[in-house]
Amino acid sequence: MTANSKATPRTENLEKNVPRHVAIIMDGNGRWAISRGLDVSEGHHAGYENIRRVVSDFANRGVEYLTLYAFSTENWDRPKSEVTGILDLAIAVIAREAQELHESGVRIKHLGRVDRLSPELRDELEQAVEMTAGNTGLTLGIAFDYGGRAEIVQAVRRIVEETVSADEVDEQKFAGFLYTSDMPDVDLLIRTGGDFRISNFLLWQTAYSEFYSSETWWPDFFGEHIDEAFEAFNERKRRFGKRV
Ligand code: IPE
Ligand code: IPE
Ligand code: MG
Repeated sequence: MTANSKATPRTENLEKNVPRHVAIIMDGNGRWAISRGLDVSEGHHAGYENIRRVVSDFANRGVEYLTLYAFSTENWDRPKSEVTGILDLAIAVIAREAQELHESGVRIKHLGRVDRLSPELRDELEQAVEMTAGNTGLTLGIAFDYGGRAEIVQAVRRIVEETVSADEVDEQKFAGFLYTSDMPDVDLLIRTGGDFRISNFLLWQTAYSEFYSSETWWPDFFGEHIDEAFEAFNERKRRFGKRV
């Protein structure tokens, strides 16, 4: 996996209207597998291989923040064998890719709960996050055991624990307690697999994101599919509620 260690200059990105923060609901692994007569686990495997392929695609297009929805707080309710398979894949892929991502200047972040992860996955994630913390290239957010509602609830808990006074709490202060505290809001939210729903992803951070739904299942979403998403983004008029 290769990604530019130098971020594209911000002014150049603004001219080309490159979304600064892209978030992806990587959906459709199961249907990809079933349509080929394969086991769902093969779909997750192909999905993880696609992550490997696309990270550099986004970095090379000048995206500064890429957040991937890998496992939701609700996905624990799937069959145990499927859940275990996903955890094992995540461990293997992080272990295999972290060093190369580090060398290409990628900064890895984890978004989500850590207390329910297996110790192996927690260790791999922690090591990858620590190793890449000082990097200045693409920020890669891995949303694993992530739920938008859970994120908001943990923020409220921490605010209460830290006895922040009510009049100190405003939108900026609140955002500082989210997993994304050092990331900008999402510009472009992509969902693969054809559905038009948010499925508990980044509820706060997508308040004014442009939404793009692709029929393509996640394992096949690369190359020209990314170009199509960017073209669609370029045609959108973002108004943020204003009369423009
Ligand atoms: C997305 O693919 C991956 C996870 C939710 C972990 P799915 O497994 O949901 O694929 P479909 O929606 O069943 O096709
Ligand atoms: C969303 O996909 C979660 C991830 C991609 C990790 P799901 O397949 O879990 O979402 P629903 O069930 O279709 O809403
Ligand atoms: Mg799904």
